[in-house]
Amino acid sequence: QTVEPFDLVIFGGTGDLAARKLLPALFHRFLDHQLPPSSRIVGVAREALDDAGYRAQLREALIAICDARQLDEFLQQVFYRPLDARKDEGWDDFAAFIGAEPDHVRVFYLSTSPELFVDICKRLGHYGLNQGKSRVVLEKPIGRDLDSANRINDAVGQVFDETQTFRIDHYLGKETVQNLLVLRFGNALFEPLWNSAHIDHVQITVAETLGVGHRGAYYDRAGALRDMVQNHMLQLLCMVAMEPPSSLAPDAVRDEKLKVLHSLKPIDAGNAGQLTVRGQYRAGVAEGASVPGYGEELGNAKSDTETFVALKAEIGNWRWAGVPFYLRTGKRLAHRVSEIAVTFKPVPHSIFDAASGSLTQNRLVLRLQPDEGVKLWLTIKHPGPGGLRLRHVPLDMSFAEAFGVSQPDAYERLLLDVVRGNPTLFMRRDEVEAAWRWAGPILAAWSDSGEAPRPYAAGSWGPSASVALIERDGRTWHDDNE
Ligand code: BG6
Repeated sequence: QTVEPFDLVIFGGTGDLAARKLLPALFHRFLDHQLPPSSRIVGVAREALDDAGYRAQLREALIAICDARQLDEFLQQVFYRPLDARKDEGWDDFAAFIGAEPDHVRVFYLSTSPELFVDICKRLGHYGLNQGKSRVVLEKPIGRDLDSANRINDAVGQVFDETQTFRIDHYLGKETVQNLLVLRFGNALFEPLWNSAHIDHVQITVAETLGVGHRGAYYDRAGALRDMVQNHMLQLLCMVAMEPPSSLAPDAVRDEKLKVLHSLKPIDAGNAGQLTVRGQYRAGVAEGASVPGYGEELGNAKSDTETFVALKAEIGNWRWAGVPFYLRTGKRLAHRVSEIAVTFKPVPHSIFDAASGSLTQNRLVLRLQPDEGVKLWLTIKHPGPGGLRLRHVPLDMSFAEAFGVSQPDAYERLLLDVVRGNPTLFMRRDEVEAAWRWAGPILAAWSDSGEAPRPYAAGSWGPSASVALIERDGRTWHDDNE
């Protein structure tokens, strides 16, 4: 697919996300000839750098993953402008550099702390850079609660209208997440079973082995609920739970997701103690290496920010009544794995005797990363004449094996969607608000309780209370190696 020429300005151009995700994604699109030669990528930050200095910085960051000759070629399309959102200096030059051509696609990617979103947008508006085919991308988190999200959305909305505003949740750009849409709505097999009559429960796990590293300053103010649950995990839950949209038109999909968010049963001071578990990692062994605890990594042993959350969510509507959605996410866990596991109800009556072994419930597992793929766990007969023995085995589809190509990073897809003006995989304002409306009372309940997060050893699966949370209901967390 062709892409029209564009300018992409990254505010926070010297930050972690730019170096780790955005520039590599753009480089890969460049290799696929989707960065037209007249397109420009402009890094913006407070550091006093020039184009050459910025290119050198990026070269160092990217050289390990890129071919040097191609990287240098790509970097010719990368520029830098020093700017402080709160000071006038440099903005005239910047506006002149971007130019006033409303027919040219201009994307302003705000990869900064959300406190700066408003100032940046005001400036862009002041210079008329919000006109025509201009778009703004807001990186999560949008605010830290409903009020601050509203303030940001109101202020951004004074400059860019909703059709120009792309609230990114990179989980929606992951191949397997899009595959969930195709699996659900491209096959006749699943949808008739996709409800409380046939589904026992759903588990969504996003487990990371890394600690917070040098993102501590941001992370300590956020914590796992704001960083992962309010956005990525709720978006995944919506994709699993939404009603079939009538098409892939942006609002058709987003309307259905919004209904799910509105149907989430509240978790607040009355039930947070039973339905949620907060944890924080201590020193331990992660992937074979000894690693420090969160407090040590942060340099503040007193922090009570959670690096782990497990919770039981319920959706109060006809389709999902009584079907728990267990969510768990954390840093420094035993394995890096993100997956959605949908467990079906047991067969109503077993015709097999005890000697055959027990029947196990069918389970559909979508592996988002690593080793993207789909597994459908079935019960079959163990081959051979030795009597009838039941076996639980997966129908296993690995994307890498089936298609032999590595999956493009989510940002590659999403950045091009912004350039093309397609907001289907972006969050609409009301979705962000509904997600905060649900998450806010959980945060309030935690803070009112005054309880510190439960400690867990780095390299484990989180606090034992997380196991208890699901085992109380007679279920266990899905483990692919079981
Ligand atoms: C980001 C969070 O949004 O997602 C990070 O801020 C987290 O804390 C990251 O590590 C996980 O993304 P991925 O694509 O590596 O699973």
